[in-house]
Amino acid sequence: MNPGSKKLAATPPMGWNSWNMFGHTVHEAVIRETAEAIVASGLKDCGYEYVVLDDCWSQKSGRNSHGDLVPDPERFPSGVKALADHVHGLGLKIGIYSDAAHQTCGYHPGSLGFEDQDARLWASWGIDFLKYDYCHAPTDQATAIERYTRMDEALRKTGREFLFSLCEWGGRSPHLWGRRVGGHMWRVSGDVFDSWVNIWMAAWNTYGIGVDVSLDIAADLAEYGGPGGWNDLDMLVVGLKGKGQITGTGMSQIEYQSHMSMWCAACSPLMIGCDVRTMSPDTAALLMNREVLALNQDASGKPARRVKRFGRCEVWAKPLADGSIAAALINRGAEGEDVRLKAGDIGLLDEPKLARNLWAGEDIADFTQELIQRVQPHETILLKIKG
Ligand code: GLA
Repeated sequence: MNPGSKKLAATPPMGWNSWNMFGHTVHEAVIRETAEAIVASGLKDCGYEYVVLDDCWSQKSGRNSHGDLVPDPERFPSGVKALADHVHGLGLKIGIYSDAAHQTCGYHPGSLGFEDQDARLWASWGIDFLKYDYCHAPTDQATAIERYTRMDEALRKTGREFLFSLCEWGGRSPHLWGRRVGGHMWRVSGDVFDSWVNIWMAAWNTYGIGVDVSLDIAADLAEYGGPGGWNDLDMLVVGLKGKGQITGTGMSQIEYQSHMSMWCAACSPLMIGCDVRTMSPDTAALLMNREVLALNQDASGKPARRVKRFGRCEVWAKPLADGSIAAALINRGAEGEDVRLKAGDIGLLDEPKLARNLWAGEDIADFTQELIQRVQPHETILLKIKG
């Protein structure tokens, strides 16, 4: 077992993943056009880099006579290598998906027993990133460690650099062993749906995690994320607006803004889930605010910690590489509240400080001991406090 590469994922990985919007319908034109839209929209310039083909890219009926995975002939008639070349030609990287059992979550062939062969095939296509899921696998931790280790070794043997994304949903505490098995990011929960609160998903026979609940999971795991290995709060649902495979009720702009704020503050990977070919200006504004993204990508790589709770309001703090502190003021309740930020809450002395509102892009106040901000229901105000 080798520790995850420090060079890869020195800051949380950023990109796009096909699952939330396209699920099992994903096809090659979607990937090509999405990669082009990532460049044309300015997302690439903001740091979004990986275009990840999630589940259902392969032929569902099985491997070919050599035991190789085969791209679905109807949805990927040109093959994945041609797609990888196109994505690379745009200056982006490409990711793929498999599962540490005989089948994936969507019942396509999995990689158990074929780790070396699959890794070699992906390397020959020029794949840069593997999301490795855990459906249909035994529930114990030891088996998970063993199966992720096997794939890590297979990836390393190819000689190609892969960003390794572990997806066992947090049940076996991957924050404790993810780095050891070469993981650069590990999911910390089941799938996050397009909803503020958890919702019962009858079609899936399970609860979909809402953004609100993810905050408590992130708060508990803050100390485990850092350069080379990150707590993955799941793909973004920003901009889905109730559409797409992952479904949900949709959220208000304020709720999507809180979702984006907290994924950034918590140093989660930022994998966009909506259709970026048709994203609206309000979605683009949430995904491309450079001051907010700079929190996520800050070189110190320290996930925000929850430092204070009162009622349904919370203050989270994140130290930044330039010596300033980012503070997130969240109102998880149903009524507007005045949130009181005390210098001591975020470890600062009673000296003059300048607070900048990052979403607004404005310096809003000089304060010494205390700053009061009105925070709307489900809103997050992101501040950068300079001493
Ligand atoms: C699991 C994962 C999702 C997605 C689907 C694909 O549910 O958690 O992110 O990859 O499988 O089937």
